[in-house]
Amino acid sequence: MTGSPTSCPPVFRNPVDIRLLRQDFENAGFTAQSVLQRIGQKEAHEIGSEDLPLLFARTAAGDALDTAIRLFLMSLPVSAEALPRLFRSMESETLLESGLVQIDGKEAAAAIKILPFQDLLVAFDCRRRLQTAAAVDYVMGVSGSSLTLANATIRRPSGRTLDLGTGCGIQGMLAAANSSQVVAIDRNPRALEFGRLNAALNNLCNIEFRLGDLFEPVEGETFDSIVTNPPFVISPETRYIYRDGGMRGDEICRRIVREAPRFLSEGGFLQMLCNWIEPSEQDWSDGVREWFDETGCDAWVLRSHTQDVVAYASKWVRHTELRETDSWIPRVEEWCSYYKALGIERIGSGLINLRRSSGRPNWVLADEAPATVFGACGDSIRGRFEARDFLGSISSDEELLERRFHVSPHARFQSRSAPTPDGWQAEQASLELVHGLSYSGKVDIAIANLVVHCNGERRLGELVNEMAQAVGAEREKIIAPVCSIVRDLVDRGFLLLASAEGHGRPRTHTD
Ligand SMILES: C[S@@+](CC[C@H](N)C(=O)[O-])C[C@H]1O[C@@H](n2cnc3c(N)ncnc32)[C@H](O)[C@@H]1O
Repeated sequence: MTGSPTSCPPVFRNPVDIRLLRQDFENAGFTAQSVLQRIGQKEAHEIGSEDLPLLFARTAAGDALDTAIRLFLMSLPVSAEALPRLFRSMESETLLESGLVQIDGKEAAAAIKILPFQDLLVAFDCRRRLQTAAAVDYVMGVSGSSLTLANATIRRPSGRTLDLGTGCGIQGMLAAANSSQVVAIDRNPRALEFGRLNAALNNLCNIEFRLGDLFEPVEGETFDSIVTNPPFVISPETRYIYRDGGMRGDEICRRIVREAPRFLSEGGFLQMLCNWIEPSEQDWSDGVREWFDETGCDAWVLRSHTQDVVAYASKWVRHTELRETDSWIPRVEEWCSYYKALGIERIGSGLINLRRSSGRPNWVLADEAPATVFGACGDSIRGRFEARDFLGSISSDEELLERRFHVSPHARFQSRSAPTPDGWQAEQASLELVHGLSYSGKVDIAIANLVVHCNGERRLGELVNEMAQAVGAEREKIIAPVCSIVRDLVDRGFLLLASAEGHGRPRTHTD
């Protein structure tokens, strides 16, 4: 196959043809689950070139699903004769006219990738486009960063959602299920073409795609939720629209934070994947904290990791300049000179959560993400905002003792014991959350017992009285330290505020 990929995403002039395309993929069993079954254990989005021999063997039979996998996931040519097995409803003329597939002699190749993801089909550019002169407007697929943001997104009923920097439209499509309207912005026109194709392919009618720079296309409008995976990479480059924000240092992310509040309705959230410059000799969060001054928003910066600039530049150069190995070293050197000129030594990565909360003093929390995240963690994130609202409303320990809590259904207790002549002796106990943000920490056994007796009906004060008796301590002496620990457990989601009546069900995190 010698044909080069088309420069445009496929165009189907008649909407019926997109429905036929979807139907053909469904008939072929081209779904996330069937693909995983056919190719083995791996996540479909992780298919890499090192897997090709294995995948080639697994798709050798050549049925419709094999053909779809080879064409659209592996970007491999197939025999032109195999096409009718996959495209049973669509006319071959329409197929070729659309540019989705090109035939050269006896071989057919796909111009784009299509990934079955959850119950969606997501079209985007093949990575080989990054090696062409047209790489600047490359539209990336469902990457690790897309998944991180999707996983962290708060999924609650939202009137209007904004997907800023939509790319292939993945965040907007996921938000469409819980939003009455989604507006998806990108400054790359090709991204919008992919976004529109994907919305049609998935029969989503509530996404509006708009071309423009950052918030400019939605001036004067407000949203209940803004999600953004912006081109956050800090570099001297402007090679790729999807990666390089084209602003100095971390300015693009700072600008989004500074501008977002105007576009958020009261109580609305901005969630943004972000890289930020960390000051060399101060606390890591000192620089990024200033972004939130006077925003009228509560902010939570959840750091996943920090890299020194050499490691950071090497990672990104290797990630994108896949085959241009000769240019790796000069490029990394160029990036490092840029960092030196700006005095940047370390770059932090993580998620910024911003909630518009006007008319009162705002808080900024900057801390580490737990080492493990189980499943979607949007509920954990929203729960922490609610927990902090509650804690901010409690002015004394006595007030806290009057409240009722519920142990999280996701809390787990673990105890480690060491052998002694008298048998096993408990030496360390810990609490852990096994869903969402998996916080964990050592716990005193008496506190662990108090936690497990939080059933939503008994006041904290009653449980503290029992605890004082059980450990033989004076109640007054333990109140302050116990309340401090309870505050932390509420803050991290181990304890949930019970409903006002005190009947069992937790009020936060999963409602
Ligand atoms: C890292 S990609 C994220 C794509 C997708 N939202 C996801 O999560 O996979 C960043 C996207 O932002 C777009 N973008 C870059 N600069 C922009 C700007 N100034 N205004 C709007 N979109 C921009 C790029 O074209 C690209 O589609």
